[in-house]
Amino acid sequence: MADDLPFDVTCPSFLADPYPHYERMREQRGQMCRLPSGGIAVLGHRECSAVLRSRDFGHGARTTSDTTAYGLPARSFLLVDPPVHDQHRGRVASAFSTEAISALVPLMTEVLHQRVSAIRPGDICDVVTDIAEPLAWGVISALLRVPEDFKKHAELLLGGVNPRQSGNESHNALARVKFSRALRKILASAPPGRCPTDLISLLTSAGGPDGLPATQQEALATSGLILSAGYKTSVGLIANGMRALLDHPDQLRLLTDNAKTPGDISKAVEEFARFDPPIQIGLRAAVTDTEIAGVAIPQGTPLLLLLGAANRDHRVFDNPQQLDVTRTPRHLAFGAGKHFCLGAQLARVQARQALTVLLQARPQPAGAATYDARWVTRHLRSLPVRLFPNPEIA
Ligand code: HEM
Repeated sequence: MADDLPFDVTCPSFLADPYPHYERMREQRGQMCRLPSGGIAVLGHRECSAVLRSRDFGHGARTTSDTTAYGLPARSFLLVDPPVHDQHRGRVASAFSTEAISALVPLMTEVLHQRVSAIRPGDICDVVTDIAEPLAWGVISALLRVPEDFKKHAELLLGGVNPRQSGNESHNALARVKFSRALRKILASAPPGRCPTDLISLLTSAGGPDGLPATQQEALATSGLILSAGYKTSVGLIANGMRALLDHPDQLRLLTDNAKTPGDISKAVEEFARFDPPIQIGLRAAVTDTEIAGVAIPQGTPLLLLLGAANRDHRVFDNPQQLDVTRTPRHLAFGAGKHFCLGAQLARVQARQALTVLLQARPQPAGAATYDARWVTRHLRSLPVRLFPNPEIA
């Protein structure tokens, strides 16, 4: 459906700033518009929210048993409708509880401390590769119990989300196979017993919604989902947020000069998620004849939800093109409804931790930011900043 849009999602100027393109489309075609292929693009906040929350829209699949040509699971619970969705999500949900996230905070603090203590005042550091990636990978590798050096396979695998834009398909397939092989070993060697805050034990032990352990197919699909949904997205929230602040020095000053309470940084993180969300789209199809905002939608119609555009809907947000770290935005960056992001709270905590440390080091721009050549997952490849960490804090 992306090929039907009135802009080229692979063009560098679009990737650097897609938002004026969304606004032009909204002005010319409204909050919902039919695409030449028969699908519908949804730009409005209310309309996207209604689709995400309605049972009339879904993925049209009720099983995760499909496999790819390589014999790997083709669908995780992200792409499956209830009741299977609810069973599979329910099995691992407690690994994302407040208690489970609190248990990961010491790891986050350690990674950030290690990173910042290596920086001398005035050094240039890359927010993406020096801070956000090590933090997010530390968290994901702890959740999945994969070794540090597994990152290279994960990078390849994540590069393969959109083969058209990422190059060598056989490398991506190989990365998928290696990742699955390693996960199979991890799952097979997991010690018996169920710990409600531990993802792997929730997958391998009995006691889920059906009283059984996950099948190997489900365990692989869920672990693969956690990796693909949780790593680069968290990097994106941190780096996109930092970039937004560097582009808006008045907002940066508000946080570096005045932010006194954890509430200030929490609000700011929500605004970063609204302003420049790491996931730009959602996909659904009508599972029955239905309507949204008076527009009739026949069963089977695919919908492209432009979450980045919805987050800048002027009917919902005052001055939506403006970054305002003091607002309390009801954004759609983490989706809504049944598929609301399971890792939203974990992502927020990582972003708060990383941005607190970065802001304490009084960041200044130190070069051009570059974007990953993908639109669906919007994150920076590189964001150089000059930092002045206080050695007493670091
Ligand atoms: C800033 C970071 C993140 C963003 C912007 C984000 C965004 C989203 C969005 C928009 C969805 C809904 C997709 C849809 O409805 O089609 C989603 C689902 C999901 N996310 Fe996140 N995510 C982030 C971080 C994470 C993290 C850290 C994890 C786990 C470690 C995670 C795990 C998931 C899972 C498992 C789902 C599927 C939920 C379901 O289908 O029930 N996400 N995420």
